Amino acid sequence: MPEFCGISLAHPVINASGTFDAIAARRVYGDALLADFPFSAFVSKTITPEPRAGNAPRRIWETPAGMINSIGLPNKGLEGFLAEDLPQLAELPVPLIVSVMATGRPEFARLVEAVADREEVAAIELNVSCPNVHSGLIVGEAPAETEALLEALRPLTAKPLIVKLTPNVADPAAVAVAAESGGADAVSLINTLKASAFDPLSREPALAAGHGGLSGPAVRPVALQQLRSVAAAIGLPAIGMGGIGSGADAAEFIAAGAALVAVGTESFRDPRAGSRVAAELDFTSPQGAAVQPALDLD
Ligand code: FUM
Repeated sequence: MPEFCGISLAHPVINASGTFDAIAARRVYGDALLADFPFSAFVSKTITPEPRAGNAPRRIWETPAGMINSIGLPNKGLEGFLAEDLPQLAELPVPLIVSVMATGRPEFARLVEAVADREEVAAIELNVSCPNVHSGLIVGEAPAETEALLEALRPLTAKPLIVKLTPNVADPAAVAVAAESGGADAVSLINTLKASAFDPLSREPALAAGHGGLSGPAVRPVALQQLRSVAAAIGLPAIGMGGIGSGADAAEFIAAGAALVAVGTESFRDPRAGSRVAAELDFTSPQGAAVQPALDLD
């Protein structure tokens, strides 16, 4: 049974923030979702201090072996999350990690203090890497900003602080080292790669925001290389993600240095992908021998 930052997990497969709506899934699948929850911990969609409507549609565009999203962090804001979503997420049968994002240190501190205060919350992920919010500030692009943010937040809670790294920098390992120096407990990577697509007929951007973030199998080799360099540079555990759709994919991330793996885009295609990846991962040998693909999970 893996242990991550002092949290015991049934297996090493969790979700990537914003890719599995557990509250909507509970409405659809009822208590069956709780009996067979696909992930060993649940990471919430990122919350911000105030409510956000998100970006205008179109927000998602399919690309070869992936998709570009520019969702824009729609959420109920801190108060709405605490009052309406947290009680529902607390019913999930796994530890809860809440993802938070703000545009300045005082607002990040407000989020961390309020969320960490709730016993239902096992850990906090700091989203310093969303490419879809036009605040002009992506903390995770600058090592010094990342370190200063962690130094401001670290004294506020003893709960694990996980820093979600951006792939959109020349040297993600430098940002990871800064997060570690500032007092982070873990890092997660990768968030989406900045990307664009155009409608070939209208010649207009495919997404209303003009650009977004690429995820899915297309980014997997990039994610593996970034994870590898980050894991070699820090002493903290890393959550690896980027196009994981099978146990074999997950095994690659573990080989590259991940303590846990997260499934993201694949959950849009297969809501049970987390359970499937975990079961397939069980069949990978340390030597990388054949994965058993033909599992009957029903
Ligand atoms: O909601 C979004 O646009 C996604 C944010 C993210 O990648 O962090």
